Amino acid sequence: MADYDFDVIVIGAGPGGYVAAIRAAQLGLKVACVESRATLGGTCLNVGCIPSKAMLHASEYFDAAANGAMAKMGVDVTPKLNLDAMHGQRRDAVKQLTGGIEMLFKKNKVTWLKGHAKFTGENTVEVEGESHTAKEIVIATGSSVTPLPGVEIDNDKGVVIDSTGALDLPAVPKKMVVIGGGVIGLELGSVWRRLGAEVTVVEFLDQLLPGMDADVRKEAAKIFKKQGMTLKLSTKVTGVEVKGKSAKVTVEPAAGGEAEVIEADCVLVSIGRRPNTEGLNLEAIGLETNERGQIEVDGQFRTKVKGVRAVGDVVPGPMLAHKAEDEGIAVAEWIAGQIGIVNHDLIPGVVYTMPEFAGVGLTEEAAKERGAIKVGKFPMLANSRAKTNHEPDGFVKVIADAETDEVLGVWCIASVAGTMIAQATQAMEFGALSEDIAYTCHAHPTHSEAIKEAAMAVRGKPIHM
Ligand code: FAD
Ligand code: NAI
Repeated sequence: MADYDFDVIVIGAGPGGYVAAIRAAQLGLKVACVESRATLGGTCLNVGCIPSKAMLHASEYFDAAANGAMAKMGVDVTPKLNLDAMHGQRRDAVKQLTGGIEMLFKKNKVTWLKGHAKFTGENTVEVEGESHTAKEIVIATGSSVTPLPGVEIDNDKGVVIDSTGALDLPAVPKKMVVIGGGVIGLELGSVWRRLGAEVTVVEFLDQLLPGMDADVRKEAAKIFKKQGMTLKLSTKVTGVEVKGKSAKVTVEPAAGGEAEVIEADCVLVSIGRRPNTEGLNLEAIGLETNERGQIEVDGQFRTKVKGVRAVGDVVPGPMLAHKAEDEGIAVAEWIAGQIGIVNHDLIPGVVYTMPEFAGVGLTEEAAKERGAIKVGKFPMLANSRAKTNHEPDGFVKVIADAETDEVLGVWCIASVAGTMIAQATQAMEFGALSEDIAYTCHAHPTHSEAIKEAAMAVRGKPIHM
């Protein structure tokens, strides 16, 4: 390996890249990771998963006090918002976690090459004017916000913003329009709705949360409406006009029809994310992206170019941190001569609102296309812990193959659905039948008992319904 500066250079220090770098170093390889941001951790730790969950958690406390949920339990309080403190605890969480990655890099002897990387030839990248070579280069450059044509995002001004701007608003908007009823729109829309904003979500499709099970999507619309959000489904935005500190958002039915203008002092653009490949100078190594701008890889995360692999948001698949992390581990293991496995059929997805929406495996619609199925459903209303906690919304749905009873998909709406879905994922990873889940002893009283009861319902026999 003496010909190269490093065994592996990873470009990007998000959950895909930093995990790949650490795992490769743990496996005895000489590793560098290039990151242009001032801190490690990528989108997830700096402006994604972590800060959004910090704001969701804090705003949930405020909402519970403001909407009478705490009073219902005998805790009478009138909340007073200290937004600076709320932002402060978010920044602290981010600082501690990004600093933690820096410590892990030091501990594992991963060299952080600070700056922007671009390919200058085979096995070579240039960072801040200096060339570095490696036998294997892993592209883990992540993704960034998809812009809406004709709509200019200006996070500093704070009127038309993206998710990064929505994490750091200096004041609660009076009226917020969220363009896109996906994960970001609902999570960050919820944060500001809880803190007092009137939130209108404009979604092009006829339901929220594309990709989730149809029952879950329908229930999501009911729940968010009940919480006070205005939903404009099957509606498209045709223009946003900004004047000073306010905006006029013109919308019309997706199928065409009469236009309507919604006034707002804040507009969040959350219509998806796109892979980051610009500026990498992929031409220098003859690597092309697909029609969606992604880098195609094989089962070992190899691109078409020898010695260049890719993981995370920049490759096809769900744009999720845990998917990127698992690919980061696997790519390092392949590079080190081991076998790295990621089961792309079982990547759980979670929306961290209250309640949370989570799922793994096939939707009912997709499972039906595959063959005959049995479905078991159990409402959270009948779960003793949810009932005790005053959390009536939601259900668990278990989808199994009609013939073999193999579990094909599990969908949960519950306050802790994101935690519950781990047991379903693990069971499915082990090839569980619905019967296996139904006959597994679940602690009482827990929300997870609803998964057991839904599995029992697959065979028509839940106890508490
Ligand atoms: P990234 O995390 O995007 O990291 C890529 C890094 O590469 C960046 O730091 C970038 O600066 C760097 N980089 C890019 N190009 C270069 C270059 N040429 N040279 C040097 N450095 C470069 N996912 C979840 O699973 N759960 C969640 O709760 C969740 N919440 C989210 C909330 C928000 C608001 C957003 C925006 C995203 C959220 N996501 C969540 C998605 C998650 O953040 C991404 O899936 C994940 O970060 C992808 O990891 P990655 O390593 O592929 O890329
Ligand atoms: P998304 O793909 O989840 O949702 C975008 C929504 O915008 C879709 O419902 C789409 O139909 C709609 N849309 C697209 N164009 C539109 C238009 N012109 N007008 C109205 N609606 C339009 O994308 P989002 O929410 O921006 O999130 C990006 C990525 O970040 C997602 O892929 C997600 O995986 C990841 N993420 C994950 C989180 C989690 O795991 N909890 C949290 C936040 C983000």
